[in-house]
Amino acid sequence: MKKKLIIGNWKMNPTTLDEARRIFRSTKNTAKKLTSTEVVVCPPPVYIQALLTKRGDPVVSIGAQDAYFEEQGSFTGEVSPIMLRDLGVTHVIIGHSERREKGESDEVISEKVALALEAGLKVVLCVGEKERDEQGAHLESLKLQIKNSLNKVPKRLIGKLIVAYEPIWAVGAKEAMDPATVYEMSLFVKKSLADAYGHTEAVATQVLYGGSVNFRNAGDIIVRGKVDGLLVGRESVNSDGFTELLKAVDALK
Ligand code: 13P
Repeated sequence: MKKKLIIGNWKMNPTTLDEARRIFRSTKNTAKKLTSTEVVVCPPPVYIQALLTKRGDPVVSIGAQDAYFEEQGSFTGEVSPIMLRDLGVTHVIIGHSERREKGESDEVISEKVALALEAGLKVVLCVGEKERDEQGAHLESLKLQIKNSLNKVPKRLIGKLIVAYEPIWAVGAKEAMDPATVYEMSLFVKKSLADAYGHTEAVATQVLYGGSVNFRNAGDIIVRGKVDGLLVGRESVNSDGFTELLKAVDALK
C-alpha cells in the first residue's frame, strides 16, 4: 500500500528555537515507529537548519513554507529554492491561502512552483475556494485556480507535484470539511489536473486535504475522504495531538 503523507505546516510557530526543537523531537520519536506513514514538517525558515540533522533524514523530512521564483540576486527577504535544496530541504509549500490573501497571485505562484520543481523540490501546491455556493461557482473558480497556478509548469516536472486542497473557510476554523465532501473535492482536483496534464499524471499526483485537521478527525478524513494525506496546521505544533494524529493515521488499513 502507498504510504500516507502527513505534512505539518507550523506557520509562524513556535516563538523559540528550544520549543521548535522540542516539538520536532516529539514528532520524530513518533514517526520512527510508523510503518505506513511519511511525515514532513515545515517549520519557519529560521529553524530549518537547526532541525536538519543530516541530509535526507529518513524519519521526518523538512519542508519550507515558501520559496521565491528566482534562483539568486537582489531580492531582499526572499529565499531561493536552490538554497533550500542545498540545505537538504525536500519539500516546499507554495500558494498557501494565508499568502494568497496578502496578494500572492496565481501567476507568481506558478513561477514559484516551476522553479522549485526545477530545483528538485517536491512542491505542495495549496488550492481551495473562499466560499461555497449552491450553484457550484466555487468549482469553476477552483478549476481556474489550479490551471493558473500551474500555468508555467511543464508536464515533465509534475511528477514531484503534490496538491493540498484547503478550503479557505476551513483553515484555522472549528471544524474540518465533512469527509464525503472532501472525497468529492479531491476527485474534482484530480479531474482538473487530468484536464491540464492528462489522466496518468493526475492519477499519480498525491492530493492532500487541509483545514482544521486534528487527531480526532484525521483517520476519518483519510478513509472516507479518500485523500493521500493531510496538511496539518495547528495540530502539528501541539506535540501530544500530533503524536495521536500520526498514530491514528498509521493504524489505518
Ligand atoms: P489548521 O489545521 O490550523 O486549520 O491550518 C490548516 C492549514 O492551513 C495548513 O496549511
